[in-house]
Amino acid sequence: MKMTMKNMPKKVVITGVTGQDGSYMADYLLEKTNYDIYGIIRRASTNNHNNIKHLLNNSRFKIITGDLADSQSIDNIVREIIPDYFINLAAQSFVGASWQIPEQTFDIDAVGVIRCLEAIRKHAPNCRFYNAGSSEELGNVDYSPQDENHPLKPRSPYGAAKAAARHIVKVYRESYNLFAIQGLLYNHESPRRGEEFVTKKITKKIAKINKSLNYKEEFEPLELGNIYAKRDWSHAKDFVRGIWMMLNQDKPMEYILASGKTHTVKEFIEKTFKAIDIQGSWIGDDINEKFIYNNKILVQINPSFYRPAEVDLLLGDWGKAKKELGWVPEISFDNLIQEMISFDMKNI
Ligand code: NAP
Ligand code: GDD
Repeated sequence: MKMTMKNMPKKVVITGVTGQDGSYMADYLLEKTNYDIYGIIRRASTNNHNNIKHLLNNSRFKIITGDLADSQSIDNIVREIIPDYFINLAAQSFVGASWQIPEQTFDIDAVGVIRCLEAIRKHAPNCRFYNAGSSEELGNVDYSPQDENHPLKPRSPYGAAKAAARHIVKVYRESYNLFAIQGLLYNHESPRRGEEFVTKKITKKIAKINKSLNYKEEFEPLELGNIYAKRDWSHAKDFVRGIWMMLNQDKPMEYILASGKTHTVKEFIEKTFKAIDIQGSWIGDDINEKFIYNNKILVQINPSFYRPAEVDLLLGDWGKAKKELGWVPEISFDNLIQEMISFDMKNI
């Protein structure tokens, strides 16, 4: 068949493709569409391609070097590719680190979004743009569950940067008539989750502890900060599908993606142990609280993991996404934990 503009495969740029969501988004689009995927990778001194190594031989998956800190690289990418979709999943995404590197967090998570929007405005005004928004923007919440009308009340430099990005995406959408949206996504996890996030930190360390117990070896306990924080956790695979649905509506509307259920970090720990048949118990209070099994300390508190300001509770109302997009999450909290701990046990 002769290639005409009409039947040429569409082009999708994904930033953050080495990360959790970017890699699942690439998987999803390579499976569900015939589009060409351009994954943006920033230069690193050591290889960090673990989440995309299975895609490197796929002829529809192309890697391009770019950096959200470098406006020229973003401008060149958009000018040369003229993408149909630009999905910005790159960020300094760890809330905890955002107090140590607030300027870098703001530069990538807020100013970086302007760099993308400017390139699109100039070179690809018909491109559909998605920016990764966060429930951290809601921060110190006024009510639960939170819906799309909840005010922005960030509690961290990360949350403040994402809130600023939300405003600038709206400004560009309204000023230049761009299809530019920022979804509002609650916590989502998977075996590909970065190791410093609490779910992965828990499943990976518990897998190690389990192995040490089995081999009767010494081990260090899992050390955590605030185990009473509540989060609305889902699976990342459900969310990349939701992002794609948001990007393909008639009008640029923004939605919450969440599970509508909230759990403490402590519950996440308990369920992970239960999934591998370790039946321990909690003793002590506050910083002395510990999880004990067979007279061994498996979990303890380390105040160095407390944050300067905490988001105590997140619980999202995904009713609008269900009603208007037809999006429904498919993977339960228990199945998410099972998948994560099974993966870590296998790979330990
Ligand atoms: P992630 O695993 O930490 O991935 C972040 C990605 O951004 C990585 O590929 C990273 O590249 C890239 N990146 C960082 N700085 C960059 C820069 N200056 N230029 C280009 N790329 C850069 O995060 P995620 O969990 O997939 O989250 C994806 C997006 O959703 C992020 O914007 C995050 O803030 C947002 N979000 C996540 C959640 C969640 O629960 N996962 C919830 C709401 C919103 P390297 O591999 O080189 O570090
Ligand atoms: N990371 C971490 N490490 N968190 C801990 C620890 C610990 O040792 N101990 C307790 N926590 C608590 C944190 O204080 C927080 O309340 C909760 O566990 C979840 O922490 P993270 O897994 O680091 O995620 P987050 O909720 O701060 O941020 C994630 O979700 C946001 C959406 O709400 C990230 O993915 C953000 O990028 C995302 O926007």
